[in-house]
Amino acid sequence: MKEKGYLELIIQLKEKRYLELIKQLPFLLEDCESLISNLSNFTALIKQVFPSFSWVGFYLKEKDELLLGPFQGNVACTKIPLGSGVCGTSASNRQIIIVPNVHDFPGHIACDEKSKSEIVLPIVVKDKLFGVLDIDSYEENNFDSIDAKYLNQLLDILIKHI
Ligand code: SME
Repeated sequence: MKEKGYLELIIQLKEKRYLELIKQLPFLLEDCESLISNLSNFTALIKQVFPSFSWVGFYLKEKDELLLGPFQGNVACTKIPLGSGVCGTSASNRQIIIVPNVHDFPGHIACDEKSKSEIVLPIVVKDKLFGVLDIDSYEENNFDSIDAKYLNQLLDILIKHI
């Protein structure tokens, strides 16, 4: 019982943080017409609110590959072919992918060997693939359907400015 209560508290705190972000993000994006500035601040905002996220960033579609975009975290791989790794698979299938343990994902691309879990969300603008949002964590099993739901809502706000 004790453990269940603790888990519920953590989930409530996570939802509270996401709901705050959903309120803040439109103000951060309004008044700025630069895509690079908005993508950069988007990653910074998320990273500063969730200490368990080790890397938050974009990979942007360019021809048949994804190129590293604005991010917060350690240096990362610059090019990912569509269909490769978690990012390329999410982009090709236009599907959110949650990886509880990166070692169990065949073809996972390890930019930071300390990374243990990951979530990738495709970004589709007017039916065209724009890129993906990639978030890593040094904690195993750090992402779930709550992250997917709210990150998607944050991306919906961002998409209005793309
Ligand atoms: N792990 C990703 C590569 C990008 S880094 O995590 C920043 C992948 O497998 O596509």
